[in-house]
Amino acid sequence: MKTFETVEAYRPWRKGMLAGARIGFVPTMGALHQGHAKLIRQSMSENDVTVLSIFVNPTQFNQKSDFENYPSTLVEDLAMAEKLGVDAVFAPKLASALYPKGYRVKVTEDILSKELCGAHRPGHFDGVLTVVMKLFNIVRPTHAYFGEKDYQQYLLVKEMVEDYFIDLKLVPVPTEYESSGLALSSRNARILPEHKIMAPLLHRAMVEFDRVDDARAAVEDAGFVVDYLEDKHLENGETRRFAAAWLGDVRLIDNVKL
Ligand code: PAJ
Repeated sequence: MKTFETVEAYRPWRKGMLAGARIGFVPTMGALHQGHAKLIRQSMSENDVTVLSIFVNPTQFNQKSDFENYPSTLVEDLAMAEKLGVDAVFAPKLASALYPKGYRVKVTEDILSKELCGAHRPGHFDGVLTVVMKLFNIVRPTHAYFGEKDYQQYLLVKEMVEDYFIDLKLVPVPTEYESSGLALSSRNARILPEHKIMAPLLHRAMVEFDRVDDARAAVEDAGFVVDYLEDKHLENGETRRFAAAWLGDVRLIDNVKL
């Protein structure tokens, strides 16, 4: 498995790929878990080569403390990637590798990025779209894998790919849950022991109640502080129930197709 820390180091390797090769790409912020592994496995089964990126992107954090507390497990991540058979890892150590002139040129979306998570995390999706655009231009994949766990992120990246005529196929991958029903997330490691048994209630309430208000009440009764829990009709014709809620100082998100 190749590992690259800079754009300059990665590029010659990518140039060596045969024209027509299928290059799968899984962008992550590390602290890898079985949700990430699912994306990696799917990419490996559908492509000639799979590239993983690990980069905790500072511009998508709207709270400094969330950025500073974001888990970092690079040694374990690389071991997991190797075991899964990933061909190359792009893991810049320094933010300046991706932001040599700071955060000046940005990709912004004006409608969906202001709703749901965007309403509670100003600037978050600008940071996501900007870094994903950079990563696409560096990695130059033919296929890119995104988890449905972050469905709003997937929809926004899809919009960007279409709007900027980026020549790749975006592949959504269903959310991986713990047997308890909790959606796997790098942030789960920070859930306090006393909150652990409540965590799966978020997903359970989202699927158990027909009325969104009842689901919200159940989640609040369980001790969560809810950012939003709402049903949304999407442009692609489907209806999804989206939620973000805090357990202590850990923010959990989930969404289900209705
Ligand atoms: P991160 O939270 O590390 O997630 C990386 C990818 O894994 C995303 O596409 C996410 O939706 C997917 N993922 C996370 N948990 C999952 C689960 N339980 N089941 C299925 N897929 C899951 O999302 C980001 O990083 C960043 O915003 C990034 C796109 C890398 C840009 O910085």
